[in-house]
Amino acid sequence: MEFKAIVDAKARDAAECAVVGVYEQGDLGVAAQLIDGQIGGLIAKLHASGDFAAKVGDALLLPLPAGAASARVLLLGLGPRATFGRKQYRKALQSAAQALNKTGAANATVYLTLEEIPDLDDAHRARIVAEVFTSHAYKVPDLKTGTKQKPPKLGKVNVAVDNARASKAAAEGLAIGEAIGNGMSLARDLGNLPPNICTPTYLGNRALQLAKEWPSIKAKVFDATGIKALKMGAFLAVTQGSDQPPRLIVCEYRGAKKSAPPICLVGKGITFDSGGISLKDPPAMDEMKYDMGGGAAVLGALRAVAELKLPINVVVVIASCENMPSGGAVKPADIVTTMSGQTVEILNTDAEGRLVLCDAITYSRRFKPAAVVDVATLTGACIVALGAHFSGLMSNDEALADELASAGTRADDRAWRMPIGEEYVDQLKSNFADIANVGGREGGACSAASFLWKFAKDLKWAHLDVAGTAWLSGSQKGSTGRPVPLLVDFLLNRAAAK
Ligand code: BES
Ligand code: MN
Ligand code: ZN
Repeated sequence: MEFKAIVDAKARDAAECAVVGVYEQGDLGVAAQLIDGQIGGLIAKLHASGDFAAKVGDALLLPLPAGAASARVLLLGLGPRATFGRKQYRKALQSAAQALNKTGAANATVYLTLEEIPDLDDAHRARIVAEVFTSHAYKVPDLKTGTKQKPPKLGKVNVAVDNARASKAAAEGLAIGEAIGNGMSLARDLGNLPPNICTPTYLGNRALQLAKEWPSIKAKVFDATGIKALKMGAFLAVTQGSDQPPRLIVCEYRGAKKSAPPICLVGKGITFDSGGISLKDPPAMDEMKYDMGGGAAVLGALRAVAELKLPINVVVVIASCENMPSGGAVKPADIVTTMSGQTVEILNTDAEGRLVLCDAITYSRRFKPAAVVDVATLTGACIVALGAHFSGLMSNDEALADELASAGTRADDRAWRMPIGEEYVDQLKSNFADIANVGGREGGACSAASFLWKFAKDLKWAHLDVAGTAWLSGSQKGSTGRPVPLLVDFLLNRAAAK
């Protein structure tokens, strides 16, 4: 989809559909007022008659008579003016994207960007338009036979701005929103693909392909031999029950001078988590194809960084394998030696995420990172704690935690801080090894994060538990692309701080 900021759109807009806002009390948004003048007050009449209530998310398409500025107008309900904020703005744009896809319009101009919205400047208002429309155009990998869906007609979206200065800001915002949307689409594709297609090998190949598409990215993929040479005993224990070979995927993006310490994004890339010998219950086990959501998200974020040419260095490390039961699988009570040298007693083979991540975090040390952020669908306990609304955020560094939390808020992809500490590490005591891989049901998300913390000593480290946010279940089943928006916002701010 193509995005463009246009100044003085009302006078010279040739788009096939004008998208304008109406507030619930009947006062028209900036552009609705103008158009209403051209069509004899029709919009005001519709509202007065109760035919368009203007609740947030309401959308009504009207054909316009010849001579009007555009062939159609799409009225969007904005709710009461007093409560119109970023949430309502996003929701209105989502219904706009949905409604426009049902029309024959090939292009549209969104005038909602002219409304005043607390905390959103010109760039951010435009950014959300591009992100919402790009996300809305996403289609799941098409593995259904039969009549193929037609590609959507809508190919171009303009956003209206007031003046040249706003236009420059909006153009930057549009580029950011589009890059976030594209990064999310990559992450969603990888998540939605079935686990017999999206294997560790496939993920590795996609990383190599990404590096081909974006020359600023260099990718390197280690196979089992390479992973053994790195002495990643915990990662190897998880993969040993599977017939699919594991991959350690490393991508380096250099946008700043070589000596600048990179941000390291570490992703959990379990392409299927059966639980291993500690086998999961059948209900919803299919959803464990999404257990590579963290890895997919860090790749998506990296794609966005490359598209935006951010002046920072970013390294992505993904530990990818399957977690399967077999005669050769790791067993409860097995003890392994991690890359860090610490030994782990594996009491539950279903707590495999922390095993692959601890070695990936140790590996990330070689880049002398400014910060390490791991992203993982790590615990069911995190879903119990936060639902699908917030990702869990744990960190050993206050400033880094604050940065990530505010990035999530700005990007409408929020994370909520949760504790780590020695109290939780005490739950992980083992009589036979340095640490056990499980610590009981209580505070499960926190003890999992505290396990990782033991491998992040002296690093500025944060952990995002995206078990509840990376995908939706039920009839809505599908990958969300979260937390790509949070990660990109975080990196944008790191880049701006230079
Ligand atoms: N991938 C799962 C976590 C998960 C479960 C995410 C359900 C989303 C939905 C992880 O590997 C896992 O199995 N964790 C266990 C840990 C437990 C054995 C300590 C869990 O949460 O049950
Ligand atoms: Mn598991
Ligand atoms: Zn898992």
